Amino acid sequence: MQIIESIEDFRKISHKKETKVGLVPTMGALHEGHLSLVRAARRENDIVLVTIFVNPTQFGPEEDFLQYPRNIERDLDLLKKEDVDIVLIPTVDEMYPDGFSTTVNIGKLSEKFEGQFRPGHFNGVATVVTKLLSICRPNVAYFGAKDAQQCAVINKINKELNLGVEISIQPTVRDENGLALSSRNYYLSDSEKTTANLIFHTLNKMHKSWKNGITNSKILTNQAISTLQSDKSIELHYLAIVDSEHFEEVDTLKYDNLIIIAVKIGSTRLIDNITLT
Ligand code: PAF
Repeated sequence: MQIIESIEDFRKISHKKETKVGLVPTMGALHEGHLSLVRAARRENDIVLVTIFVNPTQFGPEEDFLQYPRNIERDLDLLKKEDVDIVLIPTVDEMYPDGFSTTVNIGKLSEKFEGQFRPGHFNGVATVVTKLLSICRPNVAYFGAKDAQQCAVINKINKELNLGVEISIQPTVRDENGLALSSRNYYLSDSEKTTANLIFHTLNKMHKSWKNGITNSKILTNQAISTLQSDKSIELHYLAIVDSEHFEEVDTLKYDNLIIIAVKIGSTRLIDNITLT
């Protein structure tokens, strides 16, 4: 009889799999950012599993759940070309049957920055990702660094609920002007796209200033905020420098801190971030 006194050791023997499964959870409307996750999964696993599920519980009542871009045929074509093995497209009724009431509440981290502007969003993400990980039981699950606070949420539930999945965070994919790829970019007009280039420009400039020796968070953010606020086509939701695990604001910048930003341009809300490296 084997007696095991650590969850980690227990997992090593109980979850031994012949084949390594990589999961890429998505809400569809796939772009190169998603495909970079799929390619990483393809390189590192025997089986690649992609889920497409526009999760209603992570959208607020005023948000774009019904308008969220959907194009299953195109998504499936793209995934076929990437040699994906399985695509799971569950229905809302199957994911959230009548009477569904169990949710994952991650506390303080869900209330700041994105959480402040999108109440309930991260608990919706935490719940659906927990469900997708328990349905798919992958070895590795892939997420994009653009959604930095989402990544922190997922790392937290994985650790605290002992989900035992390796979480792989892949770099943000950007267009030729530096705009982070996002399904919500589909909503932007050409002139709004030009305005949106200011987001990465600002992050880059702050990163450079840090490299040139400015380590005071207030000085750096105040300068950038006043530049952004002089452009009336941008509504700044937040610009802050935080640690990447708890999203606590820092006074003095150091390696691995994140500069995070959210803005609204027209009716489209965009987020981005850069890591101090
Ligand atoms: O990043 C997304 O597309 C979604 O938030 C996710 C992780 C698939 C959960 O619905």
